[in-house]
Amino acid sequence: MPRFSLAAAAFLLALLPLAAAKAAPAAAKAKAPAAPPVPPNITALMSKGGCKAFASLVEASPDALSTFRSAVEGGVTAFCPTDAALRPFMPSYRNLSADGRASLLLFHAAPVYYTLAGLKASNGPMNTLATDGSARGYNFTVQNVGDQVSIRTEAAGAAAARVRDTVYDRDPVAIYAVDAVLEPVELFDTAEAPAPAPAPAADAPRAAGRRARHRPRHVADAPGPAADDDAAPADQRKNAKRNAAHGGPRPRWLAAIPAAMAVAAALV
Ligand SMILES: *[C@@H]1O[C@H](CO)[C@@H](O)[C@H](O)[C@H]1NC(C)=O
Ligand SMILES: *[C@@H]1O[C@H](CO)[C@@H](O)[C@H](O)[C@H]1NC(C)=O
Ligand SMILES: *[C@@H]1O[C@H](CO)[C@@H](O)[C@H](O)[C@H]1NC(C)=O
Repeated sequence: MPRFSLAAAAFLLALLPLAAAKAAPAAAKAKAPAAPPVPPNITALMSKGGCKAFASLVEASPDALSTFRSAVEGGVTAFCPTDAALRPFMPSYRNLSADGRASLLLFHAAPVYYTLAGLKASNGPMNTLATDGSARGYNFTVQNVGDQVSIRTEAAGAAAARVRDTVYDRDPVAIYAVDAVLEPVELFDTAEAPAPAPAPAADAPRAAGRRARHRPRHVADAPGPAADDDAAPADQRKNAKRNAAHGGPRPRWLAAIPAAMAVAAALV
């Protein structure tokens, strides 16, 4: 009897690894459907939430689209102007260069996830996806009055944009519909600035100085003829001149290269 038990135990022990080996693939199979969640399609969400025209502009700007997409992974709060709010702004939008357009679109999102409650608790300046790391700028002011969240810029004639609707809110992405386009002072004159001089003065030093704060960050991204076709030629020329004069700001992705190379070096 004891001898039989030992034999049985040995037999069972011999089978054990086989059973484990058989069970392993089954477990892997069961786990496979639980793939990592797909990041939300931010432009599709905006479209569904009443910001179809704004979403189309983002999709038509490769620079803005790629920045929005990568921001979705790290946390983002977007403020999309409704179609009714965007319509009257379109002539001004078309007047911007490709760089200016990308900056304007990126000005409509903060690189931080805010719930509506979090937003109501954050009065004051807020950086955006258009904010340049070192030069700052492209920030707006969040202002809460009662239960109403508003966003203000110093651009002349720009109305405060009021948050009208929560389009989407699931950590780490929030999208709120606003009832006005946010105008950065870097692209639109401030209230104190004198009225624009007539055409011949456009290239005069004084005019250049007043607009020097407009520092396009996307210079390196727009070399192709396709990009040139898309830009307002006059604005493009001015940008080229300013970039020659100031050496041009470093695009953010360029600043990321040394860090990426350091990581690569550490891996090998
Ligand atoms: C996001 O949705 C838009 C439609 O609104 C579609 O054109 C686009 O291809 C989608 N992008 C991705 C990455 O799925
Ligand atoms: C667009 O630019 C032109 C030429 O600079 C100017 O005359 C016109 O007023 C601008 N339109 C808007 C809506 O800004
Ligand atoms: C906001 O941007 C302005 C330029 O438009 C800059 O002078 C100011 O320092 C910025 N504020 C913050 C808090 O970054």
